[in-house]
Formats: sequence, C-alpha cells, structure tokens
Amino acid sequence: MPGLSVKDGFTQHPFDAEYGVRTSGLIAGRHLKSGHRHDRHATAYYGVAPSVFHALVRRWQKSGPAAALSQTTFVDLGAGMGRAVLLASELGFKQVVGVELHPVLAEMARKNVILWRRMGRECGPMRMVECDAVEFALPEGPLLVFLFNPFGAAMLRRLLKGWRKAQAGRGGELDLLYVNNEQEVVLESERGWTRLYLGKVRRSKVDAIADHRIMANQPEGEYAAGNYEDCSMWRWTQE
Ligand SMILES: C[S@@+](CC[C@H](N)C(=O)[O-])C[C@H]1O[C@@H](n2cnc3c(N)ncnc32)[C@H](O)[C@@H]1O
Repeated sequence: MPGLSVKDGFTQHPFDAEYGVRTSGLIAGRHLKSGHRHDRHATAYYGVAPSVFHALVRRWQKSGPAAALSQTTFVDLGAGMGRAVLLASELGFKQVVGVELHPVLAEMARKNVILWRRMGRECGPMRMVECDAVEFALPEGPLLVFLFNPFGAAMLRRLLKGWRKAQAGRGGELDLLYVNNEQEVVLESERGWTRLYLGKVRRSKVDAIADHRIMANQPEGEYAAGNYEDCSMWRWTQE
C-alpha cells in the first residue's frame, strides 16, 4: 500500500523493531479505499504512540471505572494494523477486539495478532473484525472504546447515534478514549456523555523521535505530530 515503501517515506517505529511486528507507516486517508461508502471519511492510518496509549489507559484506570479491567472489553474502532490492540492485550482486559474497515490493514493486524500470541504477550482473548465501525455491534458488558482519530465529524455523529440506541438495550458501562480528538466538538454537543478528561498527553522521547522522523519523511507533508497528543476521555452517564 502507498506509505509502506521506503520511497513513500516509510520508516520503522521502534515498537516494530523490538517485537518483530508490522504496525509502522503513515497512509493518507485518500489511499484507504476498501470500496465501502464510508471510505471517504477515513483520516489516515497511523499507529498510536505506545507511551500515549499507556498514559491514557492509566489515567482512565484512575477515573473510577464501574468494573475491573478483567470484566471490561476493550474495543479499538479503526484498529489499522493493530498496534493499540496488541498493547491493550497485555493489560488484562476481559477481551480485546480490533475493528478495521480496510482489508489489507485488517489482514496485517491479524498477522500481528498471531505473532503476538506466539510470543505469549497477550493476557486474554484478542481478535480482529473486518467491518465498518458504525456497523459493529457493541458487545455486552462494560466497555472501553478506543478511537485514534479514525474519521471525521459526520461518521462520529453517526457512531454516537447508533450507540445511544444500543445503550438502551445493552447491559454495561461505556467509556471512550479519544486520541488526537479533532472532532471533540461532536461529543461536546451530544447529550448523555460526561467528559472525564481533556488535555495533552506527552509522547516518550523514543516515540517523539520516531514520530517526528516518520512525519518528516512523508512525501506530501500533509500530517504533523508534536510532542503531545490532544486527548479526551468520556463516560456514557445517561440512564
Ligand atoms: C489513525 S489509524 C489508528 C490505528 C490504531 N487505532 C492505532 O491506534 O494504532 C485510524 C484507522 O481507522 C480506520 N478507519 C477509518 N474509517 C473506518 C471505519 N469507518 N470503520 C473502521 N475503521 C475505519 C482506518 O483505516 C485506519 O486504519
């Protein structure tokens, strides 16, 4: 895929070098064509900085979630090659699910899941589902949904509308972690959600160097990364 060859500016993230998986690369949204009508809303493929992921999950754990980690399902909507899925699988969630629309990325994530299992790194069940985030039915029980800015405002609105209906019949709490929260205003304008956190989460030095290098090499220069990610954390509080 474009973005995954050296001439397209590909550089390997240290996470991949350390574990022998493939989650590096920056693929612009216009290259993420799966044939689905929601393709045009996709932002880009880019793996989350592990330091940002861990810092945000730690913050969520301190926020007083209703259920223990071991009873909570983690869902990454827009899982790409599965970096956040792999990271979450080490933390002791009841199960970890990655949902990805693009078939090539979903296949790469499945291969990464297999490698991760072989290394014995996961603490519970993990799986990849190839489908549209809006069409994915939320599993029963306490849920932590992870979004790393996968799509634009129209899609996020659609997603939240579906969840509002689903929550009426679904048993279990619903929390949301939102990294690079470009569409924060959509959540702010929705009833039923309480924001637990809004702020900048710092990348580790290793992640900052890696992300700067990747950004500096992109041929079109259209994406940027600073030393922080703007993040938020939300809880569905409407009964
Ligand atoms: C910024 S990447 C995040 C990757 C991953 N969550 C991580 O943190 O490493 C966003 C991903 O969302 C996917 N995506 C975009 N629209 C989607 C949709 N409607 N349904 C499922 N995945 C989607 C893109 O293909 C891309 O892989």
